[in-house]
Amino acid sequence: MDLADNLATDPYGVYERLRTTSPVHRIQGTDGQPAWIVTRYEEVRAGLADPRLSLDKRHARTGNYQGLQLPPALDANLLNMDPPDHTRIRRLVGKAFTAGRVEQLRAPIRAVADQLLDALGTDGSAELIGAYAAPLPITVICELLGIPRERRGDFRGWTQALIAPDPNQPHAAKEAVKAMMRFFTGLIEHKRQTPADDLLSDLISVRDAEDDRLSEDELLSLVFLILFAGFENTVQLIGNAVWALLKHPAQLAALREDMSKIPAAVEELSRFEGPALLAIRRFATEDLTIGDVTVPAGETVLLSLSAANRDPGRFADPDRLDIDRDTAGHLALGHGIHYCLGAPLARAETEIALTALLERFTVLEPDGDDAAQWRRSLRARGLKSLRVRFRAGQPA
Ligand code: HEM
Repeated sequence: MDLADNLATDPYGVYERLRTTSPVHRIQGTDGQPAWIVTRYEEVRAGLADPRLSLDKRHARTGNYQGLQLPPALDANLLNMDPPDHTRIRRLVGKAFTAGRVEQLRAPIRAVADQLLDALGTDGSAELIGAYAAPLPITVICELLGIPRERRGDFRGWTQALIAPDPNQPHAAKEAVKAMMRFFTGLIEHKRQTPADDLLSDLISVRDAEDDRLSEDELLSLVFLILFAGFENTVQLIGNAVWALLKHPAQLAALREDMSKIPAAVEELSRFEGPALLAIRRFATEDLTIGDVTVPAGETVLLSLSAANRDPGRFADPDRLDIDRDTAGHLALGHGIHYCLGAPLARAETEIALTALLERFTVLEPDGDDAAQWRRSLRARGLKSLRVRFRAGQPA
């Protein structure tokens, strides 16, 4: 069994073993190249804020990093960038992606959640990732960006082809990127002529009005980044959160008893079972010391957010889910200049998804011993499927 298998079946056990021997280990990265994995809270947090760890691929030692092969027009995104470009774009996006925009989305998110739950009926069983956790965030992203309703079916198809590629259709992912680029280029042109009350129209006006402006490629890359960063992580956090609560019935009961604890519970669930096992890979711009090792310039550093969040040096009894604990400083949404841009939206979606689900079903249980199927990934912690039994109304 390799590290990816071990991480997929028992990430926290693997991390604990790594963390107790040394804060930094040399491993084989996802692209087959060597990388350094950092697992202790202090070092992970410091690494996230260290300007000597760059997100720009040009700092990778030649031949060391291939990465995701995106067309150049999509590569100009925040998660490939350092200051000053990162600072400029982040400031411009901040003007459009406001707290008010997220607040505006709360009612539509709740409406979509209720519709999805209506479709499940009042008593039965369902696969919750496909029926609830996945369609909710994709609809929210469509609302956020102002994607017309009649194009949302196409949009879901492309997203699916990219995020969960079908091995029998090797070219589907590339075709989906091309189709989406055509679609967004057309949509940007349309919204430029006819602006509406959505994030994309606001981004276009920021792009067109400011001196310190976004380039056309930067705008397109940003839309793609918002889609990818915003969709998959949220699906996984909702799924992981539901699963963690089902596995901890006393915590679930305490939450049902006092639903005002939902926001605090979402923080703890993010710490306990967050979807991003690793931050985006970073490259050492110079030889640097992390913990007890020297990482040579140009080598890849993987900061494990999940390992840091389960570090007993930072969180007492970290493998216990406790919705009443102080979760301040958890790293599930990152830290430093790349801290999740969509954090308020991620929180709102997860809070609403849990509230709507628990209000609707007074009985919610795993359906069978193998109800949860995890994905196999070094990078992401998430469920392929989660079968549940549910019943609306009073508990029997
Ligand atoms: C539960 C859901 C989410 C999780 C766990 C999550 C996690 C993260 C993390 C860990 C980072 C930092 C990566 C790093 O420093 O290596 C990040 C960045 C980012 N996230 Fe999220 N995210 C979530 C939802 C969203 C949503 C809903 C959006 C937008 C709609 C979004 C947009 C972004 C963007 C644009 C960045 C890059 C920010 C930058 O580089 O300045 N995320 N996210």
